[in-house]
Amino acid sequence: MKIRDFNQPRVLVLGAAGILGWNLLRANESFIGTIHKNPVEDLGNQIYRLDISSRGDFVKLIDKVSPSLVINCIGMTDVEICESRPEAAYALNTVAPRMIAKECATRGLRFFQLSTDHFQSTTDEINDRTEITQFEATNQYSLTKLFMERQVLLANPKALVVRTNFFGYSPSSKSFFSQLVTSKSGDTFTGYKDVFFNPLGVMTLVHLLTAMSKIELTGLVHAVSNDVISKLDFAKIVLDASGTSASLVSGLLPRSYPKRPHFLALQPTESLLSLQQVGSIEDMIRTEVNRFPPSQEFSTNEAKGRHSDGL
Ligand SMILES: NC(=O)c1ccc[n+]([C@@H]2O[C@H](COP(=O)([O-])OP(=O)(O)OC[C@H]3O[C@@H](n4cnc5c(N)ncnc54)[C@H](OP(=O)(O)O)[C@@H]3O)[C@@H](O)[C@H]2O)c1
Repeated sequence: MKIRDFNQPRVLVLGAAGILGWNLLRANESFIGTIHKNPVEDLGNQIYRLDISSRGDFVKLIDKVSPSLVINCIGMTDVEICESRPEAAYALNTVAPRMIAKECATRGLRFFQLSTDHFQSTTDEINDRTEITQFEATNQYSLTKLFMERQVLLANPKALVVRTNFFGYSPSSKSFFSQLVTSKSGDTFTGYKDVFFNPLGVMTLVHLLTAMSKIELTGLVHAVSNDVISKLDFAKIVLDASGTSASLVSGLLPRSYPKRPHFLALQPTESLLSLQQVGSIEDMIRTEVNRFPPSQEFSTNEAKGRHSDGL
């Protein structure tokens, strides 16, 4: 169901072919989107082509579209590609958000920037992972995101930086979640029993961001679930909800390069809880699994090569 609200701001979503961008557009027909290399199927929304490395093209687009809110879902989200191409990761994950933040500040536009839970802290206690915790980066992806958070809020103190982790359907997604849902008998997956997180179903995040677009909110927030779960238990529930007979093996996060954090869960920002009811992880998994079209299939060999942030 599409949300249609004539009082809502004029929203420009950057990165509409990605998982979050696609779901934001799909749920809100008035939202305008940008694509880069990959196309999006016709959702009925206005779509423009944009390479965010060009400030001039971004400025021209803003002049043309006149949004009141920009939501940046563009990013280099593949942790291994960030590691092998640190300069490109810095350009897309830090420099581009800072440029957008500055332009939005100059023009008095609201700006939402997505960040991550992919940070390490000194203790693995959810209560010690708040908006004021000093996090550390374990790899290039998390480093570019930590730099980004500081630089965006310095350039535009009225911006909103949303730390999150999410799972769900999008036509282009080759995420671990998509691989599990579309798996077949004979496929085998490893679920890490030593990695913990508290993600949202992408539709819950879409509803939260849509609700945030209608109120005054600035600074850094944690849009995550109340339930903390291991990646192994998460994968068990996904396979069960999908009714597939793929096998799941319990494993430990490999000590391979690039280094990844074991405990990702963030303490949710309390003020967000009144905006949108967040169901249990199990309910969100079932909702997202049911959003997959029955014919949705892609090569799992291709999919297994991808190691993005989140799922
Ligand atoms: N997925 C998760 O669970 C998760 C977890 C924590 C945080 N996040 C953050 O949430 C945000 C959205 O993540 P996502 O998973 O939805 O991303 P995604 O699916 O990887 O999509 C990223 C988008 O960025 C676009 N893009 C790449 N280079 C571009 C360029 N030079 N100019 C314009 N667009 C460009 C891509 O378009 P093309 O493919 O056409 O190049 C793609 O549509 C990111 O900031 C990510 O770090 C995600």
